[in-house]
Formats: sequence, structure tokens, C-alpha cells
Amino acid sequence: MAKVYVFDHPLIQHKLTYIRDKSTGTKDFRELVDEVATLMAFEITRDMSLEEVEIETPVSPMKSKVLSGKKIGIIPILRAGIGMVDGILKLIPAAKVGHIGLYRDPKTLKPIEYYVKLPSDVEERDFIVVDPMLATGGSAVEAINSLKKRGAKHIKFMCLVAAPEGVEVLKEAHPDVDIFIAALDEKLNDHGYIVPGLGDAGDRLFGTK
Ligand code: PRP
Ligand code: URA
Repeated sequence: MAKVYVFDHPLIQHKLTYIRDKSTGTKDFRELVDEVATLMAFEITRDMSLEEVEIETPVSPMKSKVLSGKKIGIIPILRAGIGMVDGILKLIPAAKVGHIGLYRDPKTLKPIEYYVKLPSDVEERDFIVVDPMLATGGSAVEAINSLKKRGAKHIKFMCLVAAPEGVEVLKEAHPDVDIFIAALDEKLNDHGYIVPGLGDAGDRLFGTK
């Protein structure tokens, strides 16, 4: 069964408060999302495998550890997922970035796929799918379906704010995908928005309405 991790790190919670605040403007919103993505990436990479190499310090030879070179892919769900990519790349600069474009039909709330471009070696990579919002769960489920259909085997999902309804839908659809969340909120409203949430992540990030 999928594991769900809710990050209670004080820095993440502090920055998330300002991300949620409606008086935070586009520039600060974007910078804060970037910073939280970096902090979350630090936690999400805790299980990366290491190998020993021999080096020489100025004082003596020693065996020390480096990452064992597992290939990583970051997949933002367009649009809002883009806001989390650079923050993750600060810690994993060699990762490749694929894109999956989905939007929610405002009436049915069902995701509509309009773009997919992935690294060519999908089967060899460990993927982190990122989107600030996990609301009904439809977009995350569809993005992961799309990745799996193309051969991806190891996938994690990372978001800022999730609704309990979306977490359940994602766990049910993809029990092999662990979920990493900065905050688990109360519920969805009648329009499929997370309450209290942060509003429309894409609009706040890109200054559209
Ligand atoms: C938002 C958000 C997620 C999706 C979450 O995107 O960035 O992708 O909604 O909702 P769900 O869990 O109910 O599917 P939106 O569809 O507004 O598209 P945008 O990023 O292009 O604005
Ligand atoms: N998409 C958003 O951007 N915000 C929500 O609260 C739900 C879906």
C-alpha cells in the first residue's frame, strides 16, 4: 500500500503559511513555492542509494560515500507543477525533466491530457511527479497512468497541499506510489477546490485569472 508522508518541518510549515495567504503576490508566491520544493526534495531523497568510493583527503586515504548514480526524472504536471521544478533541480541537478499537460474540465473536474514529453529512457528512471495541488486526485492519477503506460516503474508523487479525498483516490489507483505532502487539508468545496488550500495554484504562480 502507498505510504503517505506529511512534512511537519518548521521551515516548510512557515513558508507554506505565506504561500496560502491571499495577500502574497505572484513574485513572493513563486519564490516560496521554489523554496518549499527544495526543502521537500531534501526529505524525499532520503532513501537514495549510496556506494563507497576511495578518495584521498589532504591527510589520508579513506572510503566515503557517493550517490550510486540512479537516474532521476522530475515530471511537473502543467501548469502549476512547473513552479516546483527548479527547487528540486537545485538538489538533483542531473535529473531529467519531462512534462505532462493536464487541465481539469471546470464542469466535470475530470482531467484532460493535452501534452506529454518524457525522457527517452523512461524504464530506467525513478520519477518524482510534482504538482502543488492534490484535490480530487484526478490529475495525479491520470499523470501517473500516462507515465506507467510509457514504461515508468518507480514513481513518487509530491505536492504542497492535499485534500483527504484526493489522497484516497490516488492511493486506491496507484498503491505502489508513495505520496509526499507539505500539508493535508480539511476537504474539497463544491467546486473541487481545497479548503482552506491556497486557491488556484496555476493562477497564483503565473499571475493569470
Ligand atoms: C490544478 C492543479 C492540479 C489539479 C488538481 O490544475 O495544479 O493539476 O488542478 O486538481 P485535481 O486533483 O482535482 O485533478 P488545473 O487543472 O487548474 O490546471 P492549470 O495548472 O493549468 O491551471
Ligand atoms: N487546483 C487548484 O489550483 N487549487 C485547488 O484548490 C484545487 C485544484
